[in-house]
Formats: sequence, structure tokens, C-alpha cells
Amino acid sequence: VEINLSVPGTPPRTSRIVIASGLAAELRRDLASLSQGRRLYWLWDAKVWELWKRRVTCLDWPELTPDRQILFDASEANKRLGAVEDLARRLLRAGADRLSLVVAVGGGVTGDVVGFLASIYMRGVPHVHLPTTLLAQVDSSVGGKTGVDLPEGKNLLGSFQQALAVFIDPQFLETLPVEQFSQGMAEVIKMAMLGDESLWHYLEDNRTQVWEREEQAMVHIISSSCRLKARIVEADEKESGCRRFLNLGHTVGHALERLSDYQIRHGDAVAMGMLAATRLAERLGMVSADVFQRLVGLQSRYGLPSRIDSRYSPDAMIEAFKTDKKQLAGKLHFILPTGIGSVVERHDLDMALLREVLGELQTGP
Ligand SMILES: NC(=O)c1ccc[n+]([C@@H]2O[C@H](COP(=O)([O-])OP(=O)(O)OC[C@H]3O[C@@H](n4cnc5c(N)ncnc54)[C@H](O)[C@@H]3O)[C@@H](O)[C@H]2O)c1
Ligand SMILES: [Zn+2]
Repeated sequence: VEINLSVPGTPPRTSRIVIASGLAAELRRDLASLSQGRRLYWLWDAKVWELWKRRVTCLDWPELTPDRQILFDASEANKRLGAVEDLARRLLRAGADRLSLVVAVGGGVTGDVVGFLASIYMRGVPHVHLPTTLLAQVDSSVGGKTGVDLPEGKNLLGSFQQALAVFIDPQFLETLPVEQFSQGMAEVIKMAMLGDESLWHYLEDNRTQVWEREEQAMVHIISSSCRLKARIVEADEKESGCRRFLNLGHTVGHALERLSDYQIRHGDAVAMGMLAATRLAERLGMVSADVFQRLVGLQSRYGLPSRIDSRYSPDAMIEAFKTDKKQLAGKLHFILPTGIGSVVERHDLDMALLREVLGELQTGP
């Protein structure tokens, strides 16, 4: 499957998103045609390299030689400006210049750090991403947001740089731990809820195939998610309008992540946020009660929560919304479903109702 993402500008920027199982084996040809003579530098999540080096070495990828390869600790704790500086210096020592092409291999942290580095290295070099986690394959590798964290909060330094290409090979998921797989599924369920009803049905009807990560099922859910995200990003790259729909579940989600000092994982937090958004929509008469039940059904099938963590009071959650960088001018803004496959943005939520719904979801559906 191939998806093209093109955002306006001078010149317009285009990103190719290619999804195929076993694709990594064909990378030689694809990269050669993309690089147009640029020298490649490979930046790897060291953990992914460790897991995949044997298989990758057999594939004869272009210019994957020790002098063109940089491994780094791609943990969230190392998603810092210091890591960017360190990688930049290692690229310099390896001889990378303005005419180089940087290839990132790893999950969302790798994509965000390497994408950011590429956007500023010698004022910008193109980059390619080979995402290796489900979250990166269905979400973070598409759309051009890059960046690093500050001690004060996540993704506070960053830039927009669309990858020249994203090559998505679901085979990488073979080594992904099941909890990580579930975290990615939260974003897939979110995509289905906000804009793809047939993906939602697919998730309900092909539970075993998806959960067992069967090749065809992976290609289907990844390409559906990427297609939807690409369409949204084309319409609103800088998130001034409909790109905010992608924040479904993230208002409450981010609050829970921060309150728990990031002990609650992102996908779990988003899943709890989707429960809240859907229940709110139900109470406002926007969706029927069965939508909430179906969401609970899907989330629990894919290893995600069906209630909100009860350690945090509704008031603490509401307080935490206020420090979210995505909250506009102090107003509580929420993305709410209007059915399976459609959402609206609301700025006028009644605080009392919100508090009530959050409290109710802590004692179970
Ligand atoms: N740019 C965006 O639009 C965007 C969107 C969503 C999330 N993000 C960012 O993405 C990050 C989360 O991404 P993530 O969940 O991929 O995290 P990650 O990159 O930290 O990967 C999760 C863990 O899985 C390991 N891993 C990666 N690939 C593997 C594989 N194939 N087999 C086994 N282990 C593997 C990693 O080493 C890591 O320990 C966050 O920093 C978040 O802010 C960015
Ligand atoms: Zn998310």
C-alpha cells in the first residue's frame, strides 16, 4: 500500500508512506531511488538494532556500514536536547553534511528525536523513517511533528518536518512486547472512532487476526490509520483546525499522564480519555449508549482499560487540564464523538457534568 501526503508550501512538501510486510527486504531499491546520490546515515534505536541486527545484516541495505551507523538510547528519558546535540556531533564526526540523508529506525522516540535533528542539522537535511513500534507505524511517523521533551513537559521543543518517506514493515512488530502493542492499538481505536467506521467494524470482526498480529490484518489497520492521518494533516498541517480531532481522548489522557508522573502509559491514558469523551457525548445526547459499550468492548479486547484510574480525583484531573499546552487560551476544549467515525470539537463543556462523568467512570462502566 502506498499513500502520498502532500502539504502546501513553496515548494510543496511530499511524503511517501509505503506499507508492506517484508518491505524491509526491498529497501535497497527504494532507498537508492530516493536518495538521489545523497549519502545515507543510519540512526538506530540501540534496542531495535540489538534485536534485528542478524536479520538486517542479511538484507544488504545500502550504506549500512559501521562508519555510517549510529546507535543511541531511544528511551523517553533520553528524548532531550542533549541527545540531539550528541547525535549531531556523532553525525559530524562521521562526515555527514548538507547533502546527506538521515534514516531513523525505531519507535516514536527515535522518529521524534531524529526528525528534529534532521530539521536543524546544517539548517536541515531530509530524513526517512522506518517505524518499528505499532504506535509509530500508525501514528507518530506520519504528519511531520518532531521534537524533544523538557523537564517541564513533553514535546515542548520541536519543529515540523515531513519525512521524505516512511517505510512501514509490520514484520518489525514480531519482537514488540504485548503491552507496547496495546499502546499502539489505543491510537488505532482512536482513529477508527474519529474518522473511519469501517476500520471500527474491522477491529470488532477480526479480533483474533489483529491480536495475533497477522500480516494482512496489520497492513489493513496500519494503512487505514495512516490514510486517515495523512488526509487530516494535508488539510491542517500546523494543527489550527481539524488536526485537533486527533486529540480525541488526549485531554483527559494527558492530564492522567501528568498526574501519574508518566507512570500511566500513553495508550492507556488515551483509552481512559476516550471513555470519558464518549460518556460525555452520551450524556449530552450526541451518541447512543451502545457506542460506549462497544468502545469498552474493543478496548478490553485489545488489552486497554475500561475504567479511569481511581487514584486521581476528578478535580485533580480538571486542574491538570489547565497546564496542557494544547488547551487554547484557558478554555477546556474537548473532542467528542458524534457517532462511530465522526467527531466534533466543543469548547463549552459544563464543568459539573465533566466532574460527574469522570467520577462515575472511576467506579466502573
Ligand atoms: N510525532 C508525533 O506525531 C507523535 C505522535 C504520537 C506520539 N509521539 C511520540 O512517540 C513516543 C512514543 O513512541 P513509541 O511508543 O514508539 O515509543 P518508543 O520509541 O520509546 O518505543 C517503545 C519501546 O519499544 C522498543 N522498541 C521499538 N521497536 C521495537 C521492536 N520492533 N521490538 C521490540 N522493541 C521495540 C523501544 O526501544 C522502546 O523501549 C513519545 O515520545 C511520543 O511523544 C509522537
Ligand atoms: Zn496519542
